[in-house]
Amino acid sequence: MDCVWAEEGKIRFLVPATDPHHPFPPGSAPVFYNPRMELSRDVTVLLSRVIGVSGYLDAMGATGVRGLRVSSECNIPVTIADRDHRAVALIRRNAGILGLPVEVLPSDANLLLSGRTFETVDIDPFGSPAPFIDSAIRGCGKFLFVTATDTAPLCGAHRNAGRRRYFASALNTEYHAETGLRILLGFVVREAVKYDRGVEPLFCFSRDHYFRVHVRLVKGARDADRSLERIGYILQCPACIFRTETHGLLPPPAECPYCGKHLVPVGPLWTGTIQDPEITRSLESTVLSSGFSLSATLQKLVSLCRQELDLSFHYDYHHLARSFHTSPPPITQVLESIRREGYAASRAHYSGTALKTSAPLSILRAAFRETSGK
Ligand SMILES: C[S@@+](CC[C@H](N)C(=O)[O-])C[C@H]1O[C@@H](n2cnc3c(N)ncnc32)[C@H](O)[C@@H]1O
Ligand SMILES: [Zn+2]
Repeated sequence: MDCVWAEEGKIRFLVPATDPHHPFPPGSAPVFYNPRMELSRDVTVLLSRVIGVSGYLDAMGATGVRGLRVSSECNIPVTIADRDHRAVALIRRNAGILGLPVEVLPSDANLLLSGRTFETVDIDPFGSPAPFIDSAIRGCGKFLFVTATDTAPLCGAHRNAGRRRYFASALNTEYHAETGLRILLGFVVREAVKYDRGVEPLFCFSRDHYFRVHVRLVKGARDADRSLERIGYILQCPACIFRTETHGLLPPPAECPYCGKHLVPVGPLWTGTIQDPEITRSLESTVLSSGFSLSATLQKLVSLCRQELDLSFHYDYHHLARSFHTSPPPITQVLESIRREGYAASRAHYSGTALKTSAPLSILRAAFRETSGK
């Protein structure tokens, strides 16, 4: 395999040469490496330190970069697996070059996780993680980390695929980055509760073309029941901007209070918190001293996540301005105006034009009119 050097975090390692003329260069190589996922790997390293991960399985290693970084930068026992023999050879080569004591296994993730348990399991597949979540939960002692790059099924662009993979009905709304993340979390919860295990989200985010969830699994039927109580739906009006959140395994039939249309349920999805505030605080206080080349970008992400309102939908700020027939005033002024009325309001981590608030539309309209001077 023709290889070149790459660098991330504290390690220098080999990755396959790619064809720069390929529409997606990482896809042209025999073993996958996407430099654009560096930030997601930075999060893996930083979060592992913050929550005290003590044993880590990178179940889908490819070049091994994720697991090798955890081994090198967190100094804990690491196992890296991949079912592709070319990936396994490259992981072994990289581990040898770096002199890291990692266990490297040529194994299918579902088989491995059906026979062994690891404190922390990381699932980072091509596309949907859905076929791996059941075994990942069975083989997971405490922490489960999952990437999903199948944004089209999760965001409602490929609705039938979303139903098949996640048994959920997604809708391609302007807040699909939020509902996609929560449909994925809802799926993880449903896979966990059947084993009497509850799910506590630690740090979950939506970025570019992927979702990344980090959760703690807790043993016990009561914890599982508590997690299930957070399963619900967004009810979206098909004709106007009204939307609301509801809890329960089934969506109640409901009508739009503004225009009377039947509301369309999006879900089932996780309606609970997606961040642990103590963890986002610790991430925020350690990120700038991490030495990552993307530490400033990561700091911004973590800080937005920490301040973000715990709500399963947002309004797009331009969309609101259009529907209120105003020009869009500065978003900070709108947020302040809503807060002055006694309602919580925040931005969202995945979009610069997202506005989260529990305020009714009348308050939002007044805030837009007031700040744009109409
Ligand atoms: C997206 S890449 C992993 C990227 C890597 N974790 C990183 O951060 O660069 C997905 C990898 O999963 C491997 N894979 C796919 N299906 C698998 C399975 N069922 N069991 C184990 N590995 C699998 C592929 O061979 C590929 O190397
Ligand atoms: Zn309506």
